[in-house]
Amino acid sequence: MKKTILIIIIIFTILMVILFTKKDKKNNETNIFNAIPFYKKELQKEYEDYLKETNYPIKKVVLYVNIGINKPFYEGSKHSKYLNTNYILVNKYNYLDKDYIPNDLVILDKYAKAGIRLNKEAYENFIDMANDAKNENLNLRIISAYRSFEYQENLYNNYLKNDSKEKVDSYSARAGYSEHQTGLVIDIDNEKKDYNLFHLTEEYNWMQENAYKYGFILRYPRDKEYITGYKYESWHYRYVGKLIAKYIHENNITFEEYYYEFIDK
Ligand code: DAL
Ligand code: ZN
Repeated sequence: MKKTILIIIIIFTILMVILFTKKDKKNNETNIFNAIPFYKKELQKEYEDYLKETNYPIKKVVLYVNIGINKPFYEGSKHSKYLNTNYILVNKYNYLDKDYIPNDLVILDKYAKAGIRLNKEAYENFIDMANDAKNENLNLRIISAYRSFEYQENLYNNYLKNDSKEKVDSYSARAGYSEHQTGLVIDIDNEKKDYNLFHLTEEYNWMQENAYKYGFILRYPRDKEYITGYKYESWHYRYVGKLIAKYIHENNITFEEYYYEFIDK
C-alpha cells in the first residue's frame, strides 16, 4: 500500500515537472514577440507559425503578420480605421464601405483635368508642389484623384474585359479596396507623355527628390508588390502629411510598414 502511494506521488511529480517545463517554454516564446512595441496578443499563434515558416527576425515577423503578409490578399480583410484622417490605410486587407465618401473634398481648378475632386489639405499641398515644380519648368497635372465605389467598380469590371482577374488584381483595386476612394490620392502626368510612362520624365525624377517635402509618397514602389499588393506605379502618389512622408522617404519603407509600426498598434 505504502509502495503504491509512493509510486503515485513519483508519477504525479514527474507529470507536474513536465507540465511546468512546457508552460515555461511557451511563456518564453510569447515573450520573444511580446517585446516588440507593436505586438498584438490576438496574433500570437500567427507570429509563431510565420516565424517557423520564414525564420525572419522577430520584428519583421510581427510587422509582416500585422500587415497580413502571412495570408493571401483579401483573406480576412477588415474595415479601414481612422476614416477621414491622413492615417487611413486602404489596401487588399483593409476596405471602405460602398457609401464611404470622404469629408473635405474640393473640386480642382488648377493643375488638373476637369471635374476632379481631392481632399482639401492634399490639394493645397499639391498646389505648393506644382508651383515649385513650375519654377523649374516642370509640369505636374492631376489626371485622377477621388474615385467613388461605383466608379472603381466600373473601372475594374472594364479591365476584366481584356485581362484575367489575376492580371487585373495586380494593377487595379477592386471596389472598396481602392485608396482613391479616400480622396487622398493623385495620379499624375506631365501633360506630354502618357501617365504610365511617367517614370521616364524629368518630372518623375523631381518627384522622387521632392514629393515628400509636400507630404506625398510614391505609394506603389518597385519590388514592394508583396507588401502593397500592386505592381510599381510611378504616377500614383498618396498624401500622408509632411512628417510621415519624410519618415517613409528617409527609411525607404511602404505606408503599410509605417502604419503597423506607428499608427495601428
Ligand atoms: N491602381 C490602383 C491600385 C487602384 O486601382 O486604386
Ligand atoms: Zn492611382
